[in-house]
Amino acid sequence: MTTVYFDPTFTDEERRQHLYNGQLVVFSPCKSSLAFCEFAKELVQEAFAPLDPETAQFDLPVEKYADILQKLKPTFIHHPESKKHLSAILEESGCDLGKTYYEVPKLRSSTSSDYLTTGIAYAWHPHRDTWFAAMPCQINWWVPIYPLKPDNALTFYPQYWSAPVKNSSSGYNYYTWNKQHRGGHVSQYLKQDPRPVPKATEPLKLEPEIRLLPPVGGMILFSAAHLHASVPNTSGVTRFSFDYRTVHLDDIAAKRGAPNIDSACEGHMLRDYIRATDQSHVPEKYFALYDDGSEANGKLVYEPLRA
Ligand SMILES: [Fe+2]
Repeated sequence: MTTVYFDPTFTDEERRQHLYNGQLVVFSPCKSSLAFCEFAKELVQEAFAPLDPETAQFDLPVEKYADILQKLKPTFIHHPESKKHLSAILEESGCDLGKTYYEVPKLRSSTSSDYLTTGIAYAWHPHRDTWFAAMPCQINWWVPIYPLKPDNALTFYPQYWSAPVKNSSSGYNYYTWNKQHRGGHVSQYLKQDPRPVPKATEPLKLEPEIRLLPPVGGMILFSAAHLHASVPNTSGVTRFSFDYRTVHLDDIAAKRGAPNIDSACEGHMLRDYIRATDQSHVPEKYFALYDDGSEANGKLVYEPLRA
């Protein structure tokens, strides 16, 4: 059973435990999340000016559109203001900043009507982030920048929290992936995206599903082990959202987190997270707890493209 908690008053520790048990948490917009949304919206508007970002796709050739995103997304990721806003949200949400590490915030776009669903605007099929080497204690925070609709939202498949899915994660090594496919220009993938990402290899029962529609600046928190996807966007407008992922040092040290029921990927993302207080990396001594011997296979750390 999946419970959705709205504005719970849990401590951060209680909240993490509920998330590791497959529950979902939704927060109403708060001062810092609204400020981050406002900042993100300004960047998005600037990038598409004079067009309205929600409908710009209908006025631009897809090559030009992908080009705009290819500059906009790294600008968002690397902007010093993004890190400040993110730390402010974590603080306002009751996280212990000295022990909370995050992965750089990502700006996402989901265009309507199959306009661009590959490369820089990849339309996410049902997946668990743990198939992609996310830590078992990784928590995803997902925030809409423009009002959501049921047909452009994020969706969850709660029946698979405890039911394994046959999938292709065993062919995925995080370090090899970083070396071969990340940090480069992906605007070349306009029609198809041949990059081999982990997917379900058996038919999925996609009902029931949970589509949560918080208002702009509201936050959906979920475990990296939850099966989730982008709803194929038929809403007539492009959806813009941002998300980031956190891990807590105590959980890293104790190897706490969601159970792994079906991921067989190699490598881990532990070297990618930075501390909310000073952007230092997770101390090296913890890597060995998760290393699997594939560390020599590629690039250990994901380096997002710079605009
Ligand atoms: Fe995901």
